[in-house]
Amino acid sequence: MRRPILTANWKMHKTRAQAAAFVTVLREQLGHTTEVDVVIAAPFTSLAAVHEGLLGSEIALAAQNVCAEAEGAFTGEISPAMLADAGCHYCIVGHSERRALYGEQDAEISRKAAALLGVGIRPIVCVGETLEEREADRTADIVASQLAGSLTDVETAAIGELVVAYEPVWAIGTGHTATPEQAQEVHLLIRARLRERFGASGADIRIQYGGSVKPENVVAIMAQPDIDGALVGGASLAPDSFAKIVRYESQENRAT
Ligand code: PGA
Repeated sequence: MRRPILTANWKMHKTRAQAAAFVTVLREQLGHTTEVDVVIAAPFTSLAAVHEGLLGSEIALAAQNVCAEAEGAFTGEISPAMLADAGCHYCIVGHSERRALYGEQDAEISRKAAALLGVGIRPIVCVGETLEEREADRTADIVASQLAGSLTDVETAAIGELVVAYEPVWAIGTGHTATPEQAQEVHLLIRARLRERFGASGADIRIQYGGSVKPENVVAIMAQPDIDGALVGGASLAPDSFAKIVRYESQENRAT
């Protein structure tokens, strides 16, 4: 059984004070949620504040990027062990913004994922096609090749800890969500590739959808059989909106 996982990806938003205030309100709104995994991916400078705010809760802390190296002369970088020390249990890798704006390649993303697993942090490995690629009917090839390249260094033994996020680039921050059926189609393909790569247990890997997820569409997205969670950018910046997404199973959302 794959436990649903809802992740807030704050991207480059929030000071320490804003982050701490968010956590206080979110905890008030969620109470003791145990039916789903809730994760907050904060900027490096807010990790400590969020970690402190989350003490005693089941909400997990994530980073948004990491260096694949263990330590050394890598000015400006943060190592996996440093993230573990900061209280992170998850870390996003290979987000499309890092691929497009900072030139990250599959091979590096794969090394990051393996390095994270080496210190007990769960990587959230992102894949997704651009609009041009979708229109050229290349979605399946692009996603399969990103997935294979980004998981080369990941050992089968570690896959219980792995999370994959399918984020069509054309749906990120644009308000254009993939339809639940479009997302499901790609999730099914990812699931098949994961089984080929890791055997039967590949079916246990959780696959999140990301791209303009909000309280109004999360119920339909989560209803798809191969969608196990959501990676939420814009709609995760306000605690009430993210809380609604986390409580997607409640009647309140179904009514909206
Ligand atoms: P969005 O971002 O929800 O603002 O589209 C999702 C993401 O990039 O993870």
